Amino acid sequence: MLRFEENISLKPFNTFGVEAFTKFFYEVTDLEKLKLLFKSAPELPIRILGGGSNILFTKNFDGLTLLMATKGIKVLEEKNNKVRVEVQAGENWHEFVLWCLKQNYGGVENLALIPGSVGAAPLQNIGAYGVELSTVFYSCKVINLHTLEEEILDKKACEFDYRSSLFKTHQKGKYLICAVTFELQKKPHQPVLSYAGLKSRFENKNPTIQQVAEAVIEIRQSKLPDPKLLGNGGSFFKNPVVKESVYKALKLKFTKLPCYPSGKGQVKIPAAWLIDYLGYKGRQFGQAGVHQNQALVLVNLGEAKGSEILKLAENIQKEVKSYFGITLEMEVNIL
Ligand code: EPU
Repeated sequence: MLRFEENISLKPFNTFGVEAFTKFFYEVTDLEKLKLLFKSAPELPIRILGGGSNILFTKNFDGLTLLMATKGIKVLEEKNNKVRVEVQAGENWHEFVLWCLKQNYGGVENLALIPGSVGAAPLQNIGAYGVELSTVFYSCKVINLHTLEEEILDKKACEFDYRSSLFKTHQKGKYLICAVTFELQKKPHQPVLSYAGLKSRFENKNPTIQQVAEAVIEIRQSKLPDPKLLGNGGSFFKNPVVKESVYKALKLKFTKLPCYPSGKGQVKIPAAWLIDYLGYKGRQFGQAGVHQNQALVLVNLGEAKGSEILKLAENIQKEVKSYFGITLEMEVNIL
């Protein structure tokens, strides 16, 4: 019989640092034990937690919270310039990036310093500075929570999209991600420098992946708050994707409105610009606030409740909608 810890505070397990309690708590270090657990408590509502960096707890949970803490990085196969690496779900994302840099395996250097765990990364298809997880993703090992069987899902099956996958959409709650296999470059060349901040820095240069990672870390540290010092969940909203015609109409009124191409006659508008324009940047609302260097990041100024941060997010959504006619979709999972 597996023993659960009871009435545990989840404050140390979410980067917003908000208080919320779970009735039962179990740290998963062994998948066989995990399967036993599912069989012994089939009725118990469960919630799976990785690094806790993309969630906002707004209430207590009357079920079992599983903290994925399985570890291990293994090279599966090397062929030509490709190397396949399997990483257990509980590995820290940035630690994995550092491991790749040490081996000189290319592909994830632009994703340095993203908070969270490897197992959670496919859920929202983490992305930054011109690269998304889907670029380097090969497959993942999951437990189907309906059958308790292990399955392998390839890239196509995961239906990756901008900050989205099947784990977040129509198959939400069906799978538990146990391990992720990446396909990386053994002799990296041509790092992705499409993001303006990287392009200007490395103009006419051919940087190593280590230099790219260093630059990414520097850029992130200058804009994004360290969750250890100031509670936050990264970008709170997705950047809205609109038809070009909608953008052109808005641009007549808001002449400085930026945009990025997003394929098929669509453009992506930086949500940060919209929120910034409305004067939210750096403002405080009780214990919740909007970060002073990045308007897309909501922060916990100390003892904020999850509901307080959610209220601020909803107010921003309402104001953006009434001012620009644009719907902002939350990127952070509200629990
Ligand atoms: N901007 C403002 N005010 C601000 C910040 C930005 O007007 O306070 C405008 C500027 O025009 C700027 C543009 O927004 O050029 C884009 O800003 P930035 O490059 O900081 O990126 P972002 O679109 O706000 C996205 C990701 C980030 C990722 C960066 C870099 C989403 C939801 N967010 O942010 O991801 O690090 O690009 O690639 O796509 C995350 O998902 O948690 C995250 C931090």
